[in-house]
Amino acid sequence: MLNIKNINIKNKKVLIRTDLNVPIFNKKIVSDVRILAALPTIKLAIKKNAIVIIMSHLGRPKENSYDNKYSLKYVSNYLQNKIKNIKVLLIKKYINGFNFKSGNLYILENVRFNKGEKKNSLLLSKKYASLCDIFVMDAFGSSHRKQSSTYGISLFAKISCFGLLLISEINTLKNYLNKPKRPMTVILGGSKISTKFNILEYLIKISDNIIVGGGIANNFIAINNNIGKSLYEKEYIEKSKKFLKSNKILIPEDVYIGKSLLFNEKSTKKKIKKIYDNEIILDFGIKTIINIIKILISSNTILWNGPIGMFELFNFRKGTRIISKTISILKSFSIIGGGDTISAIDMFDDKKNFSYISTGGGAFLKFLEGKELPIVRLINNIEIILKKI
Ligand code: 3PG
Repeated sequence: MLNIKNINIKNKKVLIRTDLNVPIFNKKIVSDVRILAALPTIKLAIKKNAIVIIMSHLGRPKENSYDNKYSLKYVSNYLQNKIKNIKVLLIKKYINGFNFKSGNLYILENVRFNKGEKKNSLLLSKKYASLCDIFVMDAFGSSHRKQSSTYGISLFAKISCFGLLLISEINTLKNYLNKPKRPMTVILGGSKISTKFNILEYLIKISDNIIVGGGIANNFIAINNNIGKSLYEKEYIEKSKKFLKSNKILIPEDVYIGKSLLFNEKSTKKKIKKIYDNEIILDFGIKTIINIIKILISSNTILWNGPIGMFELFNFRKGTRIISKTISILKSFSIIGGGDTISAIDMFDDKKNFSYISTGGGAFLKFLEGKELPIVRLINNIEIILKKI
């Protein structure tokens, strides 16, 4: 993989695609793991006297409009505190170019405000590419997305290469996942149902147990129960029925529900058969958590992606917290991945007790699937062709 370390970037405009998609609550960054992970490549480029421009997405805003809630301004301020010797400037209008000056670090406003980003518009990709001499893909967390800033740009950039984080993630995960010790348990939670459901079939094949949480679990509960206003996606119910036949998936028997998503929403214990139309499943109940602990204790490898409950709300973090604490005291090999999961273990102060923390959520799962990440294939192929010419 073409490494930024091996390229002459002095005085060149270097555009680094990072994944600075960090959780922000009340204008504060809740977990800085992804920002810290992006720093080595940024600092290397600064040290090598490049003109450094970074870009990232944040959340899932509506395309073609600006939304303050999803602005990278808090990330930009945070970066300024971490990199003291250079001025960090957030650039809002950049698609048709902007004035560069060496000695500044430029951060382009959320790429997902731009029309065409998510659909990998070639026009937008070309415009991104024209902002730089060298494109550096370092957003491991977004490397499963075929979007203009993560994929299309490479088709037009004069030179494309990989950053330190992306290379390190790929090498480390390859190494760790080569021959996992059995039994292997996968915990799959969170709210990104479609991204994760598509990979569940493969995870069932490679693992001994699957613990589903969050929106994924709701899809399984919904097969035979009313789940009120809980998050789920109807189109995956048939798949859920099919996956259940594997007998590897643990379905919760009790949960905590709330009636709103307010921070201090009261939690009420419920059996899954007793959920009413106005209720929302927001965490697992004690019986279910005990069953999960038993599985975790008997596992030698644990892969965790996506929180169990809505841990952001004060009364619904028990399930995620107990699981985090359990894994952190076990001797089993543990890998966790994904922005929300990292944010949860950060909140419970368990970060140092996991064997490996990946900045990728969906990307980590895609990697698990054994498929080459689209941008990795593209940049490697461009390299091979250029060498042949
Ligand atoms: C993530 O949080 O997994 C990445 O930043 C990708 O975000 P996305 O699922 O919104 O593309």
